[in-house]
Amino acid sequence: MDSADVISDLSRVLYQGPEIQRQIARLAAQIDDDYAGLSEQDLILVGVLNGAVMVMADLSRSLKTHCQMEWMAISSYGSGTTSSGVLRILKDLSVDIAGRHVLVVEDIIDTGLTLSYLIDNLRSRGPASVEVMTAFRKPEASKCPVDVKYVGFDIPADFVVGYGLDYAGRYRNLTDLGVLDPKVYTR
Ligand code: PRP
Repeated sequence: MDSADVISDLSRVLYQGPEIQRQIARLAAQIDDDYAGLSEQDLILVGVLNGAVMVMADLSRSLKTHCQMEWMAISSYGSGTTSSGVLRILKDLSVDIAGRHVLVVEDIIDTGLTLSYLIDNLRSRGPASVEVMTAFRKPEASKCPVDVKYVGFDIPADFVVGYGLDYAGRYRNLTDLGVLDPKVYTR
């Protein structure tokens, strides 16, 4: 679906799908350069479920570098619009990352809580390197102690949906990124 299909639920559209994909492709080119000749082993992309599905699909297909795709699921939000602050691993990696180059692929960094927890956890497994790529970053994330090397868009603090981001399980399949009208989550 695109914004026109859910226009009454959005207070504004921030980025159209093609614009997001172009920016992801630009980051992929940067990643190709940065990892060129770095390792005999393939780069491991670690997508954070569920939101990173779209960015993982677009990033991985734009890369010219070989990569493996792995997934982790970490709970941080309930079904509402604010973080619960409670984190736990719901799904772990299926490979050993010791000595490997890891790139975490996120849809959004909001408070940075998920990322801080995840990076500490991954570093404890002895990888050769861990870097982070995110499609979107909110202002609050600047307080996060984790350095994010690849950022698609810095966005306002509004509650956004689309391009993998949901509200109560909906809107992940919206190709654009939009600000959810508060009437949707207050009704
Ligand atoms: C979202 C998003 C990030 C995290 C960012 O995931 O995908 O992983 O929240 O928030 P933070 O910076 O405040 O920690 P969520 O837990 O909503 O799960 P989802 O990807 O399945 O929607």
